[in-house]
Amino acid sequence: MKEAAKYLIKVDAEFRDGQIVPEISYDDVMRLVNEPNIVIVKTGIPSELLTKVIEGTRQWAAQTPLAEGPDTFDNNQHKQRLHIAKIQQAPQLFHDHTFDAIVELESTFKQTLLSVFDPMRNFWNSLTSNDEAFGIRKGEPYFHPQVTHYPLGGSFFGRHWHPLNPQKVGMILALNQYGKDYTSGGTGYVINNHIVETEGYHDLGDMILFRYDLPHWVSPSSFADRFNWDDPAGRWVSILPFYDPWATPAEKNEPQGWKTQIQSARNSPSKATV
Ligand SMILES: [Fe+2]
Repeated sequence: MKEAAKYLIKVDAEFRDGQIVPEISYDDVMRLVNEPNIVIVKTGIPSELLTKVIEGTRQWAAQTPLAEGPDTFDNNQHKQRLHIAKIQQAPQLFHDHTFDAIVELESTFKQTLLSVFDPMRNFWNSLTSNDEAFGIRKGEPYFHPQVTHYPLGGSFFGRHWHPLNPQKVGMILALNQYGKDYTSGGTGYVINNHIVETEGYHDLGDMILFRYDLPHWVSPSSFADRFNWDDPAGRWVSILPFYDPWATPAEKNEPQGWKTQIQSARNSPSKATV
């Protein structure tokens, strides 16, 4: 474990029998996240698995029409997002692929996705003392596995935040390499009025962990490149949100009280569904 920059801590891990095993205990990882810090876990997931997720997702997307209507949260879909979020007023431009019905995918592609999403799911379960499986559950929180592509030439996601619970800890796994596959863009955070940019620190196979109520954003890919939705170049990540899509959304106001929430998170039971 090593401090790479202020509030940015790297934690080594081993990828053993399909599990991400950190060098320190899961409780210690969560303690670092809740202090708060941005924690970068060197998962050790082989790059072949990560590349296969990008390639498999692209092949699947080529055969699947783009979604256009409101999200239903009960299917597998991909959508080109170009939008300003209604409540938080966060602008966004990226291409996401959401696999809420991951268990219903054709077997080969499902195995490709699960080779990465199962380790992420197990890691999150260990961090949060949960034992959640994939699958849609109306009226309850459930997983929304997502592969996101930030194309070259100006993709981004403006400053926003989420309710702390039930997710507690957000996870962003880098599927490709900064400096080689793309040269600009990354996730940023505010901690104690200090801006933490992870651009350049988030290597292939690294998984960023962050307190879910910290204000965060994705800095833009360079405008010097030409933008093209169909060009697969750019940054690719996988994330694993866990929430009830029909629950009350985050407040319009930023969670300025999050320092207080840190205190209450420490004092409350860790079961996410409580
Ligand atoms: Fe977010």
